Amino acid sequence: MNKTGTQKIETHRLILRRFKTEDAEDMFHNWASDPEVTRFLTWPPHESIEASKDLLKIWVDSYEDSGFFNWAIEYRETEQVVGSISVVRLNENIDAADIGYCMSRALWGKGLMPEALTAVITYLFDAAGLNRVAACHDVNNPKSGRVMEKAGMQKEGILRAAGKNNQGICDEVWYAILRKDREDLISNLSPKPISERE
Ligand SMILES: CC(C)(COP(=O)(O)OP(=O)(O)OC[C@H]1O[C@@H](n2cnc3c(N)ncnc32)[C@H](O)[C@@H]1OP(=O)(O)O)[C@@H](O)C(=O)NCCC(=O)NCCS
Repeated sequence: MNKTGTQKIETHRLILRRFKTEDAEDMFHNWASDPEVTRFLTWPPHESIEASKDLLKIWVDSYEDSGFFNWAIEYRETEQVVGSISVVRLNENIDAADIGYCMSRALWGKGLMPEALTAVITYLFDAAGLNRVAACHDVNNPKSGRVMEKAGMQKEGILRAAGKNNQGICDEVWYAILRKDREDLISNLSPKPISERE
């Protein structure tokens, strides 16, 4: 893999960029203090802006490590940071990454996270040279599975009692996309030369 780190990625409605400590207010108010957002996550809701700021300081320092992939999701329409998407586990041995994400409840249902995840998958294949991008969700949090499906990931199966989040021990539904899946998808979308058409 190429350790390209967290580089800016632009999509139609979003800018994915490095976090700054100044993002603490947006982080706290838009998602990190909301127990509905953290319901199926592994960390408790933040109780103060200070808690968000402390975490951001750690993340900002971590950008020194080119194997650290953690994007702030900035919504162009409001110019606010409204969520995060990151590599939660990197396995350099097999060029694979697991992704995690969360977003402000006020913006759920607009397809913003599938837009962010699709862009991150493209980046991880094309820039970082990965071969596999995976993600999992609590079986009771199927809306996250919809995000994975919309980003072109395939369901691989359920690992029983394999994870733990704010709801306790849970069954995990795993999804993944391989580099070759994406190449197949792109080649199926391109029109075939007339000579190759049936
Ligand atoms: C999961 C999450 C990232 C989805 O992001 P999003 O930008 O809303 O994604 P989409 O707009 O594509 O919606 C995905 C699904 O969420 C559900 N959904 C949409 N709006 C919703 C709302 N207002 N309330 C509850 N569920 C909603 C729908 O099932 C939708 O699927 P559909 O498009 O087939 O109807 C977001 O809900 C979130 O941040 N949740 C909390 C954190 C979390 O669970 N992260 C994932 C951990 S594995």
